[in-house]
Amino acid sequence: MAALEMDDEGLKALVDAFYARVRADGALGPIFNDAIADWPEHLDKLAAFWSSVMLTSGRYKGQPVPAHMKHKDRIAPALFGRWLELWAQTTEELMTPGAAVALQDRAARIAQSLQLAMFFRLDD
Ligand code: HEM
Repeated sequence: MAALEMDDEGLKALVDAFYARVRADGALGPIFNDAIADWPEHLDKLAAFWSSVMLTSGRYKGQPVPAHMKHKDRIAPALFGRWLELWAQTTEELMTPGAAVALQDRAARIAQSLQLAMFFRLDD
């Protein structure tokens, strides 16, 4: 199978495949399945997010930190490792090697900053 392109269509297909795996994962699946009522909308939002990150399209307008903060009681820091592992698997299987590395690198940085925002507070 040919690799997906790093364009809006390819990123949408990547996001769809990734969240199918996330939903089936024993640790991550229940959190997402409980939190997300409208999956088509979530998948469109995440495709817009990755389009903004990788293609600087400006398509995503949102606030990831408060969105994750709402679920702080269920998101343990170790789950970020699992999320990144599934992202690595999915990008490796579906993208060219160079694109997979770029997507993994961006995800790792974003995961790091989300964790700092969620779990590292000077005042508690
Ligand atoms: C939204 C869980 C890691 C990007 C969400 C939502 C959940 C979630 C439950 C829906 C929030 C809501 O509307 O109620 C998790 C878990 C993670 C994780 C359990 C890892 C342990 C990441 C990472 C990224 C990311 C690493 C980016 C690289 C986003 C974005 C949204 C989102 C862009 C949409 C925020 C918005 O509503 O604008 N996530 N997430 N997440 N997540 Fe994550």
